[in-house]
Amino acid sequence: MSVAEQSIAGAEARGHGFMASSVGRKVVMAATGIVLFGFVTVHMIGNTQAYMGAETFNAYAKFLQGMLHGGGIWIFRAVLLTATGLHIWAAVTLTLDNRAARPLGYRAEQYIASTWASRTMRWSGVILAVFIVYHLMHLTIGNVHPAFDHTNPYSNFVKGFQVPAAAGFYIVAQLCLGLHMWHGVWSVTQTLGLAHPRYDSLRRTFATGLTFLVVGVNISYPIAVLTGFIH
Ligand code: HEM
Repeated sequence: MSVAEQSIAGAEARGHGFMASSVGRKVVMAATGIVLFGFVTVHMIGNTQAYMGAETFNAYAKFLQGMLHGGGIWIFRAVLLTATGLHIWAAVTLTLDNRAARPLGYRAEQYIASTWASRTMRWSGVILAVFIVYHLMHLTIGNVHPAFDHTNPYSNFVKGFQVPAAAGFYIVAQLCLGLHMWHGVWSVTQTLGLAHPRYDSLRRTFATGLTFLVVGVNISYPIAVLTGFIH
């Protein structure tokens, strides 16, 4: 079966409900995208505690672990995992359906109509997925960390970024996050119905500002450790 046939068969198998329609799946992408970017923004702010020293950072990590008698973190993990799964599912099925509906030939036109960031959504998304798995193994589970200590998240943070290859990968992943966020925030405001010439400059400023803030602060962590500012 060709990719197009497989995709049409997949679309038929999904039925004709809201989630099967491309609008329904775009809404799923937008809603889960908002949850994920909300998390990334709060996570970036939370990590600024690293600039206040070991005691403050470890107390913050302990607070997160202890929310709702330890149940809070599992609720939060379940929400994040569901949002990530739905986001990837919607992205993959929409891509396959688009490909089926638009066989070759249109490629040149499509490129003119889309931005560089929108074309990079797929590979930036794949790199981010790889980053998230690595990041969990690095700083949460600790099985790819050189000196993981479950009782000392601050030491894990510092010793983790003292490895230049690991710090470098974090930096590259944050640049991909930037591309993904920039176009994601831009598209989500479109899905929310804000695509109007009157709002376009506001949408662009918002997408650019939020992206620079999150990426800039996130990149500052490995750099601060590599330069010895955080030690
Ligand atoms: C340089 C940027 C980042 C730093 C310094 C950082 C730091 C950390 C640290 C220290 C932890 C472990 C907390 C603990 O176990 O006490 C953590 C967990 C986590 N981070 Fe990040 N992070 C960064 C970027 C990101 C990004 C971009 C994402 C998502 C796209 C992300 C997703 C997560 C998730 C899902 C967890 C696990 C939370 C849990 O279930 O325990 N992080 N991060």
